Amino acid sequence: MSASVSKNGEKNVVWITGASSGIGLALAKQYLDDGWKVIASARSEKALTPLLEAHADLVFLPFDIADASQVESTRQAIFAHTTHLECAVLNAGTCEYLDLTESEPDWQMMDRVMSVNFFGLVNSVDVCLPLLKATPHSHLVGVGSQAVQAAFPQAEAYGASKAAVRYFLSSLRMDLKPFDIDVTCLLPGFVDTPLTQKNTFSMPFLMSADDAAKRMYKALGSRPFEFAFPKRLSMMLWAGRHFPKLWLSMLAPKKK
Ligand SMILES: NC(=O)c1ccc[n+]([C@@H]2O[C@H](COP(=O)([O-])OP(=O)(O)OC[C@H]3O[C@@H](n4cnc5c(N)ncnc54)[C@H](OP(=O)(O)O)[C@@H]3O)[C@@H](O)[C@H]2O)c1
Repeated sequence: MSASVSKNGEKNVVWITGASSGIGLALAKQYLDDGWKVIASARSEKALTPLLEAHADLVFLPFDIADASQVESTRQAIFAHTTHLECAVLNAGTCEYLDLTESEPDWQMMDRVMSVNFFGLVNSVDVCLPLLKATPHSHLVGVGSQAVQAAFPQAEAYGASKAAVRYFLSSLRMDLKPFDIDVTCLLPGFVDTPLTQKNTFSMPFLMSADDAAKRMYKALGSRPFEFAFPKRLSMMLWAGRHFPKLWLSMLAPKKK
């Protein structure tokens, strides 16, 4: 039996959030190419139009993950398309930086980033958990970031939101074990997407979204607890974590 066919002979189904751009869009293509049925969510459908026209196995369901009032209707909409869900890849996310050189820093930004990256992922788990529970040996995947491995300047909100995601998933892994649901936290390094295209700093070992999606898809086959990539960046961040004074002297902005 192919890896993309479930026990009842139907195609395996994956729900991907943030599928309208960057990593999520590349992942949707990857799953479709490998014969899965893909339920793609985001707020906007536009970028998915060519893919929707080319693939009968792709469905778009709008969902603003930061809006808890959409949880029930989104769950019902997924139920209308499938009775099983082999995998959920909770990938939607955002990034904003804190600028303390401003006379009035935008502290509301902390709330915006946490609302999408952390509470949005929690809302997404709320949406799909009943279907994951109803599907034998299903898989819940969250997209964190290598940013959690060492501190980066101005990443107070982004790093904290992804650290929260990582802990949330590691705890969830324990509570979902009795339900035969595996939980993976993906920790990508720098990927060339609209999210990073606005960065003005250098991004070591930058990958294309297609490359990142290929690596993620391959790694998910063995259902690791975590998958951090590329390894060269993990090693650099390991050094940053273990030699924090050196890391600070390298990354902290110079005294005004
Ligand atoms: N790029 C990197 O270097 C990198 C590295 C590590 C981790 N990541 C993580 O990877 C994930 C994907 O990032 P990306 O680089 O592919 O970014 P991207 O190209 O900006 O895509 C972000 C996706 O999330 C969706 N999204 C944002 N806010 C949403 C909301 N409130 N509700 C529903 N969907 C929402 C966007 O769709 P709509 O705007 O249409 O809603 C879009 O599809 C994020 O979690 C990011 O933190 C990225």
